[in-house]
Amino acid sequence: MVAVNFSCVFLVSVLLLISTVNSEPVQDKQALLAFISKVKHANRVQWNSSTSACNWFGVECDANRSFVYSLRLPGVALIGSIPADTIGRLSQLRVLSLRENRLSGEIPADFSNLTHLHSLYLQGNEFSGPFPPSVTGLTRLARLDLSSNNFTGTIPSGVNSLTNLTRLFLQNNMFSGSLPSIDTDGLADFNVSNNNLTGSIPDSLSKFPESSFAGNPGLCGAPLRPCNPVLPSPAPAPPTTSGENSKKLSTGAIIAIAVGSAIVALLFLSLFLIICLRKRKRRSPKRLPATATIQAEEAGTSSSKDDITGGSKEVERMNKLVFSEGSVYRFDLEDLLRASAEVLGRGSVGTSYKVVLAEGKTVVVKRLKDVAVSKREFDMKMKTLGKIQHENVVPLRAFYYAQHEKLLVSDFMSDGSLSALLHGRRVLGREPLHWNHRMKIALSVARGLAHLHGSGNTVHGNIKSSNILLRPDNEACVSDFGLNSLFCNTTPPSRTKGYRAPEVIETRKVTFKSDVYSFGVLLLELLTGKAPDQALIGEEGIDLPLWVQSVVREEWTAEVFDVELMTDDSIDEEMVQLLQIAMECISVMPDRRPAMSEVVRMIEHTMSDRNGTGN
Ligand SMILES: *[C@@H]1O[C@H](CO)[C@@H](O)[C@H](O)[C@H]1NC(C)=O
Ligand SMILES: *[C@@H]1O[C@H](CO)[C@@H](O)[C@H](O)[C@H]1NC(C)=O
Ligand SMILES: *[C@@H]1O[C@H](CO)[C@@H](O)[C@H](O)[C@H]1NC(C)=O
Ligand SMILES: *[C@@H]1O[C@H](CO)[C@@H](O)[C@H](O)[C@H]1NC(C)=O
Ligand SMILES: *[C@@H]1O[C@H](CO)[C@@H](O)[C@H](O)[C@H]1NC(C)=O
Ligand SMILES: *[C@@H]1O[C@H](CO)[C@@H](O)[C@H](O)[C@H]1NC(C)=O
Ligand SMILES: *[C@@H]1O[C@H](CO)[C@@H](O)[C@H](O)[C@H]1NC(C)=O
Repeated sequence: MVAVNFSCVFLVSVLLLISTVNSEPVQDKQALLAFISKVKHANRVQWNSSTSACNWFGVECDANRSFVYSLRLPGVALIGSIPADTIGRLSQLRVLSLRENRLSGEIPADFSNLTHLHSLYLQGNEFSGPFPPSVTGLTRLARLDLSSNNFTGTIPSGVNSLTNLTRLFLQNNMFSGSLPSIDTDGLADFNVSNNNLTGSIPDSLSKFPESSFAGNPGLCGAPLRPCNPVLPSPAPAPPTTSGENSKKLSTGAIIAIAVGSAIVALLFLSLFLIICLRKRKRRSPKRLPATATIQAEEAGTSSSKDDITGGSKEVERMNKLVFSEGSVYRFDLEDLLRASAEVLGRGSVGTSYKVVLAEGKTVVVKRLKDVAVSKREFDMKMKTLGKIQHENVVPLRAFYYAQHEKLLVSDFMSDGSLSALLHGRRVLGREPLHWNHRMKIALSVARGLAHLHGSGNTVHGNIKSSNILLRPDNEACVSDFGLNSLFCNTTPPSRTKGYRAPEVIETRKVTFKSDVYSFGVLLLELLTGKAPDQALIGEEGIDLPLWVQSVVREEWTAEVFDVELMTDDSIDEEMVQLLQIAMECISVMPDRRPAMSEVVRMIEHTMSDRNGTGN
């Protein structure tokens, strides 16, 4: 019975590593059993009363296993109404997701006892009756989704007592009457489209887009068409109508002015950007040999005098570029040096250049600094690395060793790095990085690393988002692997601090397990949108594992996720599962971390749940 499976579901137990595995939320268990005995459900929900409720499908407990913290049963063909005195007894519940089932009837009155509830997902059922009054008293509620049901009646102004509400989804119901003014500060997502609402949209809600209100024929006012003051609106508000409308007009004017100035500001910004880009274009590309040196590209930031051709050209000519087996490229050092080059980035082990060869091919040349091994060792190591071939690993195509110059040649990936995708341009209103894309990246990186660890028998040693390169098909590849043993100080430099496993600081040695830790941090980065690496983007950098652990412990999981992900709740469970995988990877004890091949299986399993939902 002590066999609590750490590779499985229980986030909090993983976090706190408390050995009270035998305890059990007795009262909550009875409530759950009462629920499942009265509601039809899919076979997947096999709750065995002789095992701990905390191990049941869809159930998660607190660290002490004395309460049920979350109940998630999306798409398991629950049919019928929620009986009173069942779920309403889970007094410590934080998250309740019963979405995409066929639950009907009204929401039980005893939901008002779920006072700790943060998130309530009931969308995609057949619930009817009025907006549940038991819900308006749940003051901790941050996310409330009642969309795609059969609710009727008005939306009560009591919603305003939900002061922590960030999301209110009521679309695709049959709510009628006028919209109350809802002005909880944090409300970021709001949708009442496809109901039967009438009257004017309150000012406090007019900041939301048109699609939040569409499909309500009787609704008017910004962002929809203006209300016509001559025709009385069906919502009775006669004395204030004219005053409200004149106020609307002036608000409209203010908005127009604001939009106008924003456009002017944008124009200036784009002009500025264009000028900047022009300037950069003019500086690059440059040619590598003789005159134009890499140093020029690095002007002011590098004190080193040598360029990619090196000071001791004669000696170096005696050495040759060595191609990996099966390399598709055929060029020599001369070609490389003649080509135009552009600095891509300065990593901890050297500077990378994008080099466009004469025949039009583009490669990345990495110029290693501080290499501390002999030519023989270097050759051997690089030949091993050159043999590693996997669709999620950036192949090493060629290498070059001379006394003053060590070069690595690999494929150029035009889509850039994960770091740029996640943290770059966030302010300039770029496309959000969707969950499916993030999952694809997580899985493909895990596969690449599993291959490195497995048949490649190579520790990556420098996993970070800037070393994850993107492919046009939304998958990703790992680059910059296996280089640690080339340097005398095998600890990755401080630039990668945020990803470094705790034991590496002492042992100064990277291992398969320290790679797993770094990968866990990378998953956290994907989930939270936050950079673990101070050097990367200044203030935004944080100790990601610590931060996530503290938030998860106190507030349950919902608050940790990237706000960009909060628009699509159908992926809620996947995010939590990936978070759990990440938490396992960042276990302090290396032995507790799963192997990469295991991580791949876990992520695949998470994604395979997708097809299992629905009635
Ligand atoms: C419930 O669990 C017990 C003990 O683990 C086991 O013996 C029993 O077969 C299980 N019952 C079902 C229906 O799975
Ligand atoms: C778990 O139990 C211990 C002692 O039994 C208590 O000190 C601690 O506060 C409890 N933690 C939670 C999260 O309830
Ligand atoms: C809430 O819980 C209390 C105590 O357990 C109980 O007396 C009360 O009836 C419950 N409220 C509802 C609406 O069921
Ligand atoms: C609302 O959220 C804040 C911060 O997340 C928290 O401190 C506060 O207690 C919450 N309010 C309620 C009523 O739960
Ligand atoms: C929704 O309610 C209407 C009227 O009460 C009813 O005709 C309809 O069948 C209900 N739809 C569902 C999906 O239950
Ligand atoms: C919408 O509401 C009006 C009254 O406000 C009512 O007459 C009408 O039947 C409703 N439409 C639907 C489709 O329920
Ligand atoms: C609101 O819901 C409708 C219907 O589901 C959807 O088409 C629309 O995009 C949503 N708008 C927002 C802002 O969420």
